[in-house]
Amino acid sequence: MPVQMNAMGRAGNCWGRRCVFLTLLLCINTAMAAQALDVLHWWTSLSERQAADTLARALGEDDDIVWRDAAIPGGAGLGAFKVLKSRVLSGHAPDVAQLIGPTLTDWGELGLLLELDDVAADENWDDALFPTIQSLIRVQGHTLAVPVGLHRINTLYYRPQLLAEQGLRPPRNWAEFERVAAQLQRAGITPLAQSSEPWQVATLFEALLLSETGVVHYKQLLQRRRPDDWFDPRVRRALERLRSLKRWMVQPVVQRSWEVVARSFARGDAAMWIMGDWARGELVSMGLDVDHEFACIAVPGTQGVHLYSVDTFAMLAGNYGKQREQEAMARRLAGIPLQLAYNRAKGSVPVRRDIDPGVLDSCGRDSWRTFGRGSAVQAPSIVHRMATDEAMKDAIIAQVYRYFIDDQVTAIEVQRRLATIVRALQNDTGNRRIPK
Ligand code: GAL
Repeated sequence: MPVQMNAMGRAGNCWGRRCVFLTLLLCINTAMAAQALDVLHWWTSLSERQAADTLARALGEDDDIVWRDAAIPGGAGLGAFKVLKSRVLSGHAPDVAQLIGPTLTDWGELGLLLELDDVAADENWDDALFPTIQSLIRVQGHTLAVPVGLHRINTLYYRPQLLAEQGLRPPRNWAEFERVAAQLQRAGITPLAQSSEPWQVATLFEALLLSETGVVHYKQLLQRRRPDDWFDPRVRRALERLRSLKRWMVQPVVQRSWEVVARSFARGDAAMWIMGDWARGELVSMGLDVDHEFACIAVPGTQGVHLYSVDTFAMLAGNYGKQREQEAMARRLAGIPLQLAYNRAKGSVPVRRDIDPGVLDSCGRDSWRTFGRGSAVQAPSIVHRMATDEAMKDAIIAQVYRYFIDDQVTAIEVQRRLATIVRALQNDTGNRRIPK
């Protein structure tokens, strides 16, 4: 706290009434000085940066809180999560961290997180938030995080003009997808954009898995944790679809960050792309217009279903020295004005039920309305930390990636390996809080 130390030091060089006055003045200054919060997150792309800046600006202007940025690059937060763990272990925890999904339970039980119960009660989060989001941030009756945005993973983007020039309509099922892709390819247009970065491959796979299984079976697979479930023919079909989609991608499929894929898609290098809707934020930040220059629909076979990931910030408890600012931040982030401004930049939609969907774009409106239909249509993302613990997520990503890049690996081999991993992790407690 440099301000306070400075104040004490200077006050120590005075005398008499002047000293009392100076000390008082410095105390007032200190009390009024903006407090900084160290915020660890993984938002470093153009749109993610704009979204984070929207939050930082509002906190500075409305709450006099300085957002001290500790961004760790890397899509899906793979690097950020490791840095967060090592900072906590070495006693240099940030004040605020992008901590999402069932991990909140473990960190909460270790007493690492500030309880935001008062904020949640004052702001009436019980009524304002979608119930699934509410239960994601609640652990043993305590609110442990503030939700900022709701992402939809099962999104297929397309370039309307490229399709229209070929007399094609956006595909609603896999048979149509195959026809559209084949014709685009004949016309010399790459049908599908894709990177072979492991988490991006697995993000595509989970959408295909959901498309094959439907919500009920998808959730069962992750909740029941029965090794045999992974031998289901629907899992095999999802793997086979993943492999067969390769022929619509540029060969070889190289590893590129998702921002680079977004830029290439924006240039018109491919006609379709399956990716979470942070991609929409990125395309808009590059100046593309939703519904005209690009548009989105649900991945074939997942219409009316929401494969979700919710971004949340947890406040690290530490010595409770910044509790006031941490609570103020939580309050501000979940409030309606910032929910609208932030999510517009980020490509996600508000976590609240009480907004007017009319202010969202067409993709956002469909996401928000679909999610609002309740848990029967909601499926938690594996890769984006909603469905399992870190160990299971990392194992699925690794196996799916291996299968994707090496055509010698068979689907049954992957199924066998996943079943073995599930068996090995069966006694682990990490998966106990998978949403129903
Ligand atoms: C997700 C996260 C999003 C977005 C994306 C790409 O896990 O929820 O906010 O940042 O990764 O990094």
